[in-house]
Amino acid sequence: MSILPKNEPHKPAGTPRNFFIWGPTMSGKSYLAEHFPNVLVLNTDGNSAMGTRPSIQLKNVRNSDGSLKVSVIDQLREVLLELGTTQNTYQTVTLDVIDDVCEMIKQAICIKGGKETLTDFGFGKGWDMFYSILTGLVMDLKALPINVIYISRENTKTDDAGNTTEVPSLKTKFYNIVNGNCDLVIRTRHVGKSYLRNVTEIRRRYKASEVDDPKILEILKVIPNALAPETKVGK
Ligand SMILES: Nc1ncnc2c1ncn2[C@@H]1O[C@H](COP(=O)(O)OP(=O)(O)OP(=O)(O)O)[C@@H](O)[C@H]1O
Ligand SMILES: [Mg+2]
Repeated sequence: MSILPKNEPHKPAGTPRNFFIWGPTMSGKSYLAEHFPNVLVLNTDGNSAMGTRPSIQLKNVRNSDGSLKVSVIDQLREVLLELGTTQNTYQTVTLDVIDDVCEMIKQAICIKGGKETLTDFGFGKGWDMFYSILTGLVMDLKALPINVIYISRENTKTDDAGNTTEVPSLKTKFYNIVNGNCDLVIRTRHVGKSYLRNVTEIRRRYKASEVDDPKILEILKVIPNALAPETKVGK
């Protein structure tokens, strides 16, 4: 039997599953992520203790001699394996915040290799290891049958003409790896008494009638431009 699929158009996925939420501190990133269905928070900044969802604190644990006891890389591997292979009720996993996860991965590689920085490995070897671990993590997360949310803080970028724009604080190279696997990028802001959200990048315009998860639909409905208007019959 051929392994090639039948050469005919197929319907694209109607429900976004991979999200990137960014914004300044206290702008409602974690709050928005908590409203996704059955969330498990993989937390780096301790802030999730303020939230109401179950969480796991990500960290590199050292022995008394400074060597690595448990690396964040192994910890993430174990959590993902359990999420993917055991019967559990989680429907969403959040990395709060992905910037810190990247720093912890770098730190784990350096401690293991006895180096101060990734560059000290020479010949780009340290960075190769880092990119391969980050790419693997993002791909493993995407392969899980649940929603994935990456949270990042906010930074400003100034161009040659002196114009400043707000951007996710995750380094562009890392952001491209993560975002290449996301369907929807949402920015949060806290202005006066309002908590605002807007879509900054979207894979395709999702239609309410095609979103098969009512809780995701509820969230998309309150984010301007996350949903495309339904095409009217006869038009
Ligand atoms: N849409 C909202 N409606 C009401 N309260 C909100 C809303 N969004 C956030 N808040 C409140 O604002 C505070 C900050 O929100 P949150 O912790 O989600 O911010 P954050 O962007 O994750 O901040 P940090 O970067 O520090 O982690 C919390 O007390 C939260 O309950
Ligand atoms: Mg937060």
